Amino acid sequence: MQPQEPLLAVKGVTLQYKTPQHLITATYRVSFDVHQGDRFILLGPSGCGKSTLQKAVGGYMAPTEGEMTLKGRRITEPGPDRMMVFQEFDQLLPWKTVKQNVAFALQSAKRMSQREAEEKALHYVDKVGLSKFADSHPHMLSGGMKQRVAIARGMAMEPDILLMDEPFAALDALTRRKMQDELLKLWEETRFTVLFVTHSIAEAIKIGSRILLLSPHPGRVKAEINSTTDPKEAAELERYIHETLFAHEKQEELEHV
Ligand SMILES: Nc1ncnc2c1ncn2[C@@H]1O[C@H](COP(=O)(O)OP(=O)(O)OP(=O)(O)O)[C@@H](O)[C@H]1O
Ligand SMILES: [Mg+2]
Repeated sequence: MQPQEPLLAVKGVTLQYKTPQHLITATYRVSFDVHQGDRFILLGPSGCGKSTLQKAVGGYMAPTEGEMTLKGRRITEPGPDRMMVFQEFDQLLPWKTVKQNVAFALQSAKRMSQREAEEKALHYVDKVGLSKFADSHPHMLSGGMKQRVAIARGMAMEPDILLMDEPFAALDALTRRKMQDELLKLWEETRFTVLFVTHSIAEAIKIGSRILLLSPHPGRVKAEINSTTDPKEAAELERYIHETLFAHEKQEELEHV
C-alpha cells in the first residue's frame, strides 16, 4: 500500500436488501476514503443507510454495485482487521468476566495463548479505566461501563479500523459526553482509525476529524467536510450541516404548497 493510498476506499457502493415483497435500496453509489488515523463520521437521518454501510465494511453484506477495499484488498467477508462496537449494552458474554470478554476474542481470532490474551486484555481494560472491574461480570456494570468493555475488546484486537455504530446513543447525556471525551483521549494515545456512525450533529463535530453527510433514504453523499475544535467554527459548522441535511424538507414543504 502506498502511503497516500486510503486505508479504506468505498467506491460507488449501492447496498440493497431483498425481501420477498420489496427491493430496498439503503445506499446509492456512495463513495468515500478513510485514511490511517482518521476519525471518520457517517452522519445522516434515521434510515439513510449508516448502519448498512458499516455492515458492508464489516463484511456482513456485499454491495450490489461498486466495491470496498481495505488496504487495497476487496472486502468480501468479516475479519479481525475490522472490529465492531454496537449501540446495545448486551454485546458482552454474560457468563464471562470483563477480562475474559476481552481475552476471548484474542484467543479465538488471533490464536493467542490464554496468558498472552489475558495480559493484553488487562492492558486495554486499564486503558478504558476498568481495571478494578476486570474480574466482574457484565451484570454488575452500568451501561457506560459495558460500552467501555466493548470498546476495549474492539481495541485489543488492534484492528485496522474500528467500526462504531452509535456506541453512545443509549447512554444518558452526561455519561455520553464523558465517553466522547474518553474516546478522544484514547485516540490521542493510540491514533487508531475509526469509522463512527451517529445521527447527532454535535457528536459528529466533537468526535470526527472528517464527516460524511448522507441524504435521507436512500443514502447518497451530500457532502464531505472537515470537522473543527474551534467553538465558534463548530457552531457555524453545526448550522451548515443542519441546513445541508434538512434542505430536502424545506424543498418538500415548498412542493406541498
Ligand atoms: N435487514 C433489513 N431488511 C430490510 N431492510 C432493511 C434491513 N435493515 C435496514 N433496512 C432498511 O435499509 C434502510 C437503511 O437502514 P439503516 O439501518 O442502515 O439506517 P441507519 O441510517 O442506520 O438508521 P438509524 O439512524 O435509524 O440507525 C432503511 O430503509 C431500512 O428500513
Ligand atoms: Mg443505524
